[in-house]
This record gives sequence, C-alpha cells and structure tokens, in this order.
Amino acid sequence: MIKPVRKAVFPVAGLGTRFLPATKVLPKEMLPIVDKPLIQYAIEEAREAGIEEFVLVTGRGKNMMEDHFDHAYELEAILNERGRKDDLDAVQQVAPESGKLSYTRQRRPLGLGHAVWCARQFITGEPFAVLSPDDIVLSEKGCLKQMMEAYMEVGGNVVAVEDVPRDQTNRYGILDVESDDGRLVKARGLVEKPDPADAPSTLSIIGRYILQPEVFEFLDKLEVGTGGEIQLTDAMAKTIGNVPFHGFRFEGKRFDCGTKIGFVTANVAFALSRDDLSSDLAAALKDII
Ligand code: G1P
Repeated sequence: MIKPVRKAVFPVAGLGTRFLPATKVLPKEMLPIVDKPLIQYAIEEAREAGIEEFVLVTGRGKNMMEDHFDHAYELEAILNERGRKDDLDAVQQVAPESGKLSYTRQRRPLGLGHAVWCARQFITGEPFAVLSPDDIVLSEKGCLKQMMEAYMEVGGNVVAVEDVPRDQTNRYGILDVESDDGRLVKARGLVEKPDPADAPSTLSIIGRYILQPEVFEFLDKLEVGTGGEIQLTDAMAKTIGNVPFHGFRFEGKRFDCGTKIGFVTANVAFALSRDDLSSDLAAALKDII
C-alpha cells in the first residue's frame, strides 16, 4: 500500500551569501519573485499537492519568515478600513492554519541531509516531501503535485530530475540510471556533485523530493560526504535496494534562484506569465535590450 504524503520539510537555514548585501538582514527565501517571496511559492506548491503540515528548518536571522506566515493585525486593519479587498486577501491567504506550520532550527550549516535530519521529530514514520525554495518551477500543474501523481504509481522515493549540461554535474546530485521510460527513471545509485568526467549520467536532482522515513536510518548516522557536508543524496542512495527509487521528469521550466542569473530570469519569466504584467513587461524589455 502506498501511503499518502501529508507533511513537507523546507530547508531554509542557508546564509544566502550569493545575494549579499541583499541578504545581510533579509532571509534569501524572502526575496520576491515579482510580488511573492520564494518561500511562499514553495508553501503554495506543497499545499496544491495536498500537503497539510509544513516544517521550516530555519536558522539565526530567519524570524521574518515566521512573521510572514502570521497575521499582520495592523496592516490587515488598515487594508480593511480602506476597502482594499484584494490586498487583504493576498495578505490573509498566506498563513497556513495555526498548528500546521512548525519551525525548528538547524544550529550549524552541516548540509542538506543534516537540515532534513533536524526535522525528524515532525516526521513520525511516514513519507514526507522536501522542497527547496531556491528551486522554483513555472508550470501549469505544480511540480510536487505532478510528483505526487507519479508517486501514487510507483511509491518509494521520488525526486524531481532534469538533464543538465555535462559541465554542470558538479553542482547537483546525479542519478546512476538503471532504466528510463522518458518520464520515470529508475536509479541504481546516486552521486553527489560528481566531476563531469566521472558523472554516471547528466540527470540531476532538483530541490523536490518525496521520501520514505527509512532515509532517517542513514541520516541518523550523520556521515559526512561530498564537500564535508551531511548529504541527503548519500542517505537516499543507501536506501536503494530496500526502497524503490525513481527520478521524475516534471513538466515546466525550473529556475535556480540560488544564483543571480536564475533569480533574475525567474522574475522575468514569472512576470511574463501573468496577465496583469506580460504585455507591459514585454514592451519594457524590448525597449531596453
Ligand atoms: C542540493 C543537493 C543536490 C541537489 C541540489 C538541488 O545541493 O545536495 O543533490 O541536486 O540541492 O538544488 P545544493 O544546491 O544545496 O548545493
């Protein structure tokens, strides 16, 4: 029996040094794509996919996210007074129900595997999703919802994958492919950030995962891997054989908002996809290029 996924973990403790000075005070997950912070896109994508409980693994200086997902009484009162219904809705719809959003801190930046391990108390022997807000996917149907549908077919661990140029394999977790039907890719192994010459394929993991709780058996060991970090990729790789493992080629365009070029391009692409902005922005872009 394939168990439904009800909980999601959001690793948001990263320092965001690539965006200094913007991220000196502002958490990088609060950087906006058009008019919504990255973390909100991730929460909304999870909610669309049926996630009911949300766990943010934060760190020092990340309190702003807690405020963002809370009521803002003064602002709401003013918007209400002024009859600004749309703005009021936008502000109020942000917050998940009380008790459905939890925060825990990763006290030291020891890697993605460690961040997920920090959420272990919230995941009680059930499958869960992991969403990295750095990766954002522009698509008709949310990336995690697409993954959920695939997961209901195959169960086990399912990660979102896409092909990258070979010279970029050292930025990603890479699949060692056993079989590939074009949509679902069965892996026999995984390697974290291999050199292009050693990469078993160019199929890379992006920041969306559906995981079985067995991954904690390996995360619990806190073994250090590539780059001196505790890697989620290594823990997932160790479950292969016991737990089915599939990469899922999603539909949509993914942007790596952990890089400046990805972040700026995502802003343009998301704005161009919106009825209220597309024609004005297209004209403005034509003008400046
Ligand atoms: C992490 C993972 C890597 C994955 C990537 C996706 O790397 O370790 O396997 O491909 O996220 O965004 P990071 O980007 O944190 O270095």
